[in-house]
Amino acid sequence: MSFSRRDLLGQAAVATAAVAAFPALAGDTKSLQPATTTTAPATTAAAPVATGGPFALMALPYTDVDLAPVISQNTVGFHYGKHHLGYVNKLNELVTGKDWEKKSLLDCMKGTYGTDNVGIYNNSAQTWNHDFYWQSMKKAGGGACPAGKLADAIKAAFGDQAGFATEFSKAATGQFGSGWAWLVAKDGKLSVAKTSNADNPVVLNLGTPLLVVDVWEHAYYLDYQNKRADYVTAFLDKLVNWDFAIKNFG
Ligand SMILES: [Fe+2]
Repeated sequence: MSFSRRDLLGQAAVATAAVAAFPALAGDTKSLQPATTTTAPATTAAAPVATGGPFALMALPYTDVDLAPVISQNTVGFHYGKHHLGYVNKLNELVTGKDWEKKSLLDCMKGTYGTDNVGIYNNSAQTWNHDFYWQSMKKAGGGACPAGKLADAIKAAFGDQAGFATEFSKAATGQFGSGWAWLVAKDGKLSVAKTSNADNPVVLNLGTPLLVVDVWEHAYYLDYQNKRADYVTAFLDKLVNWDFAIKNFG
């Protein structure tokens, strides 16, 4: 996860990663055809880049069509290229000239939680949450967690994989208004949590985040309109990146 330019190898690394996420930049349009059709035009999307400041927009770990048809290229374009980018740009604007510009994204988020620095908190937390969200998904993901330590913990906490899916969906659909649903681990035990607006388990001390689904309307409304439950079900069935969750569980 890239938190700030200081954490990256520099702009060259950002540019390389951006090309990986948006191969159109490298002239590769064939791989950007949506999986469900051969008639849709190749994307012309260029990888968005944050404006000046210490924080960079994380490069997506896949192309902007790899989550389709569950999450369309259009939704990724707006969600990543407008909303996520907007949080990063606003954060850069707010920290410029302040001590916060020398701190990591995580330190900005934790250091401003519950303080008067509401703008820096909201935009740093939303940047962090979205970094985590994009990594919580992968092309052709979803389904049951592979056998192993995390699968055993899911069985211990929720009975079975279906029990986890039920609890996670309940949190995601039960979150009133904008927010997030998380799988978290605390002292080796798993639970599901929901958080409002920019809040997350790190600042609320709910445990170590393993997975997240974004339930702000901008995450699903273009594809699912008001059917948040359908979006969450599709996320669980077809997109969850269990490798990421397993790595976070340790
Ligand atoms: Fe979002």
